[in-house]
Amino acid sequence: RFYSVIPAGGVGSRLWPLSRAGAPKFLHQISGTGESLLRDTWQRLAPLSGEERIMVVTGRAHEAAVCEQLPELEAHNLVLEDEQRESSAAIGLAAAILVRREPDVIIGSFHADHVVRGVAAFGQAVRQAVAVADAGYIVTIGIPPREPATGYGYIRATESLDFDGVATVLRADSFTEKPDVDTAVQYLHSGDYLWNAGMFVARADVLLEQLRRSEPELVAGLEELAAAWDTDARTDAVARIWPALTKVAIDYSVAEPAAEEGKLAVVPGHFAWYDVGDFSTIAKLGSNGRRSQLVTMGDAESVHAEDSSGLVMNQTGRVIAVIGLRDVVVVDTDDALLVTTTENAQRVKGVVDALKNSG
Ligand code: GDD
Ligand code: MG
Repeated sequence: RFYSVIPAGGVGSRLWPLSRAGAPKFLHQISGTGESLLRDTWQRLAPLSGEERIMVVTGRAHEAAVCEQLPELEAHNLVLEDEQRESSAAIGLAAAILVRREPDVIIGSFHADHVVRGVAAFGQAVRQAVAVADAGYIVTIGIPPREPATGYGYIRATESLDFDGVATVLRADSFTEKPDVDTAVQYLHSGDYLWNAGMFVARADVLLEQLRRSEPELVAGLEELAAAWDTDARTDAVARIWPALTKVAIDYSVAEPAAEEGKLAVVPGHFAWYDVGDFSTIAKLGSNGRRSQLVTMGDAESVHAEDSSGLVMNQTGRVIAVIGLRDVVVVDTDDALLVTTTENAQRVKGVVDALKNSG
């Protein structure tokens, strides 16, 4: 009964100039496995749901790249968006399409921009989440926080729920998406919170009913689209409905209210989980924590390095020499070159904003 869903959208502006609107981060090989983040995600899910039960929701502009990276993806499991309407629309549309195919389907939505190490423990957490979702909960997988990061959802969970065969599952008391830094520090020190790892498991009908409570018009639109999806009426329905869909992240529209209503459960994940948001994280993952190492990606053979550490990404094949630099970040692409340090990697987003504003 389990179906995997991979929403793959967004830009990843802290990974400029590698990640662009035309080639967002999930298409790039930055996890160190030699595969793209999207392909990594696919391979983690294939043993759990079967390859024929993985749906990918992505922008029409990425169709060719996605099909090339996922040759096993079945045509009826590829949902293409003309324009991004955020994660509630992307995941909600998948739920609405799948529930028409299988009324009692349980879906698991997995963000495409993460690195997971410990596939067995990941699989176990997902199987447990499916068991809890069967009982009507919306289930997330939670990761113990390591730092007061402000880019994540924080789940307060202290009360255990009793489920047969499920090692630990907690009821979420609250879900707070992207708290400010003072709040994040407080959450971290309290020990009562887990990070939302961007994995939501629920019966598709339960997820849609929860979304309907906060976004009734969005769900009405998604259901109309789903009804037209496998018919000749699709093009008309998309043109009419898609541009008006409410843009809201699923963390606000589903997770926060579900927690308030006692309907959100959390399975703690006992695997290593990283959101690869910036080049410093990529350097750290690539060097397995050995800071003195220089990590090379892309055409590594054309990189000549002496006494340097950090990250060099060679996307052009041009010869790049780096000499005597600590914690350097060099990302060379056809039309843009980034040079910074791992410590300043978070500031790359500012460049993107500045370039946008200067036209
Ligand atoms: N298809 C599609 N269309 N996918 C989308 C869209 C869209 O319009 N918008 C977002 N997504 C996908 C992204 O590709 C990603 O897989 C997922 O939805 C989450 O979107 P992000 O934009 O990456 O969210 P975030 O990183 O700010 O926050 C989320 O992830 C954190 C963990 O990395 C939240 O779920 C947080 O609570 C969570 O901690
Ligand atoms: Mg993200």
